[in-house]
Amino acid sequence: MARLAVNIDHIATIREARKTDVPDPVLAAGIAEMAGAECIICHLREDRRHINDRDLALLRKVIKTRLNMEMAAVDEMVKIAGDIRPDMVTLVPEKRQELTTEGGLDVKADPGHYAKVVERLAGKGIRVSFFVDPDPSQIEAAHKAGADIVEIHTGHYSNAVTEQEEEERFQRIALAVEASADMKLGISAGHGLDYWNINRFRFLPRIQEYSIGHSIMARAIIVGLDRAVRDMIGLIKGF
Ligand code: PXP
Repeated sequence: MARLAVNIDHIATIREARKTDVPDPVLAAGIAEMAGAECIICHLREDRRHINDRDLALLRKVIKTRLNMEMAAVDEMVKIAGDIRPDMVTLVPEKRQELTTEGGLDVKADPGHYAKVVERLAGKGIRVSFFVDPDPSQIEAAHKAGADIVEIHTGHYSNAVTEQEEEERFQRIALAVEASADMKLGISAGHGLDYWNINRFRFLPRIQEYSIGHSIMARAIIVGLDRAVRDMIGLIKGF
């Protein structure tokens, strides 16, 4: 049965909007776990625009399930991950001006670099996931670089406008899941998933975990975080 991993960056984004100390993403992580989330994700960006070093250190101490640190594959972040020791790291491309992670990693462009990053993280006992587009050649490159897991980018599917686009993009994800399974990789999926477009994923039972942030936090503002997390888990576990 697939698991829900909750991304709590938005809680920190609200805090940073006023440069104050509330709401606290650490408290949100506890509530998400109590509601049934099986992993907490946070993205430590180079500009610290939401999650900061204090959050990461405290999250490491209080999280009872698993901590997934999203980060760019750069020296500063590899060092921090080595000190904090999250249960896993998800490598993502990062651009300063983007509103959120825009595309998957281009592992093929620099396989040697990614292999070295995996080696350093694995040396600290950290499992490594690569956020990649649903492109079998990128998945193969991630596999060769030593990835334990691939997180398949569902954003293009989520942004589809026509039914035909949605169908084509979903089929690309389905093929990427098969390719990942053939390579014996762990399989996650995420980006842009919500309470409606998640339903099609019942046809892809090989996906083990869903990484979801925005739609859960958007619902949480209206109905509370506990209920928003439980509602999403109800859909995922009900597949
Ligand atoms: N996976 C990755 C790699 C991401 O960067 C994000 C956004 O922070 C998510 C999943 C969650 O996406 P969303 O907030 O659209 O649910």
